[in-house]
Amino acid sequence: MTKVVAANWKMHHGPKAARQFFQRFRPEVDSRAVRILFFPPDLSLAASIGAVEGSAGSGAPVEFGVQNLHWEASGAFTGETSAEIARDAGATLALVGHSERRHVFGETDEETGRKVAAAVRAGLVPVVCVGERLEERRAGRLREVLARQLGAVAEALPAASGADAAGFIVAYEPVWAIGTGETATPGDAADAHAIVRDVLRDAVGDGAETVPVLYGGSVGPRNAAALMSAPGVDGVLVGGASLDPASFAEIVEAACQAAAH
Ligand code: 13P
Repeated sequence: MTKVVAANWKMHHGPKAARQFFQRFRPEVDSRAVRILFFPPDLSLAASIGAVEGSAGSGAPVEFGVQNLHWEASGAFTGETSAEIARDAGATLALVGHSERRHVFGETDEETGRKVAAAVRAGLVPVVCVGERLEERRAGRLREVLARQLGAVAEALPAASGADAAGFIVAYEPVWAIGTGETATPGDAADAHAIVRDVLRDAVGDGAETVPVLYGGSVGPRNAAALMSAPGVDGVLVGGASLDPASFAEIVEAACQAAAH
């Protein structure tokens, strides 16, 4: 499967910093081997797309998405962005259910499901984030947590017209590894990815085989190659290390090498 390398900038890089990033981000990669996705803050989306379109010969094609959305198409929801508006602004993907949305902003599984359905309805590819907290892992509840989080997504999918398993991506991000410098070992990642794939099979049937499953949580240039060589790891979702163009380019190049093996 083509490796996917995704950058979640979270609340970093305004339009000016985004333009500077793309002036310096020029990995030399085989675009058939790697898909590169960026999730800038909403207000930096247009500047990011413009910077990429305006930079001649950057080599690698990139895709853009939003970090969150509201499930309604439009309406009196001050401060929110719908999938339709994101699409109109040039996004083709949307992160949904990131652990910071779930645990800092209290987003529920049911809301995550509604957002996935809204993304599909608007023609965006949802990148569904799942992952357990440390106490859940220690209590042996990894499979149960992943099944609950993915089950809510599968339940929401038939409600969205055109929903199809090939049209989404899953990111497994253990909460204890996000922004902590602590990473799952390639073995832990492989075990968790096997569970995700299993749960996906139960939830969406045969289509599960084509869903890319990414690993996220303190991924950087030093561990990216080993993680992406682990069985079942189809790519990475990178926070902190995606903010620097040189370090993110190294991760993209590691993906290209992992794809070649
Ligand atoms: P870090 O790479 O900073 O740990 O963040 C991971 C993440 O949350 C990506 O969505």
